[in-house]
Amino acid sequence: MRIAHLSDLHALHLRGVSPFWFLNKRLAGGLNLLLRRGRRHGLPLLEALCDDLQQTAPDHVVVTGDLSNLSLPSELRWVRQVLDRLPLGPQGVTVIPGNHDIYVREAQRARYFERCLGPYALGDEPPADGLATFPFVRVRGELALIGACTARPSPPPLADGQLGRRQLAALRQVLTAHKGRFRLLLLHHPPWRNRWWVLRGLRDRHALARLLAEVGCELVLHGHEHRDEHHELPGPHGPIPVLGVGSGTCTDPHPARRARYAIYTIEARRLVRIQRRVHDPATGRFVDLP
Ligand SMILES: [Fe+2]
Ligand SMILES: [Fe+2]
Repeated sequence: MRIAHLSDLHALHLRGVSPFWFLNKRLAGGLNLLLRRGRRHGLPLLEALCDDLQQTAPDHVVVTGDLSNLSLPSELRWVRQVLDRLPLGPQGVTVIPGNHDIYVREAQRARYFERCLGPYALGDEPPADGLATFPFVRVRGELALIGACTARPSPPPLADGQLGRRQLAALRQVLTAHKGRFRLLLLHHPPWRNRWWVLRGLRDRHALARLLAEVGCELVLHGHEHRDEHHELPGPHGPIPVLGVGSGTCTDPHPARRARYAIYTIEARRLVRIQRRVHDPATGRFVDLP
């Protein structure tokens, strides 16, 4: 089984958005967009990435959050339209939110992410209202995909995350229930001490690490760092690989930052290969990272 890992698309789509949407933390975020971030993420790169996915033809695609910049419905709907082009459909594409997708309390209350991404963020047994609850589980053959939400609308300048007691307890249940499968846990924030962790870290990473050390997990994927990462956490039968991938839309010419995604090959419940595809500005296509 081959799984493509995308993250941090940061779609900017402000057309038709009223200024009233910016009477909150979005004002600071919007200025940051105009001055910096807006130029760093190119939507044509997302379309090129989706074209490349048609060539590499993974069995499943996961997106580990920050699909938007300001958790505006216009941004989330635009990403949904791009994802809708993938032939795998919502059953073959799994998304979870990042801190930019639940940027302000109003987005959390109105559940824009859940409403706009709909079937891409639902488990095999969705709730009656058809909106995602976290963690959700999708079983695909020997794979159990577990989508968690670390995002929360923190006040500026925080970009931190937290699973919370309820999700940690639910994670214990689902990780235990799916022992015997290849358990793939999706997070947005990395479960290790990242740079500027006081501002940008996962608050309950120690509780998660203790849980994983006890009940195990075969692979943890995350985003948020905007660069490829390869770490490990202790598991009951050996180290658990923890992999991050850079932004799928970054226009930065630096090769370590440039738009990318990863493909993981899983055989007999083991991660056997990591392939990284990076955008080549010269050709406008994605190529294998040597
Ligand atoms: Fe991000
Ligand atoms: Fe993030």
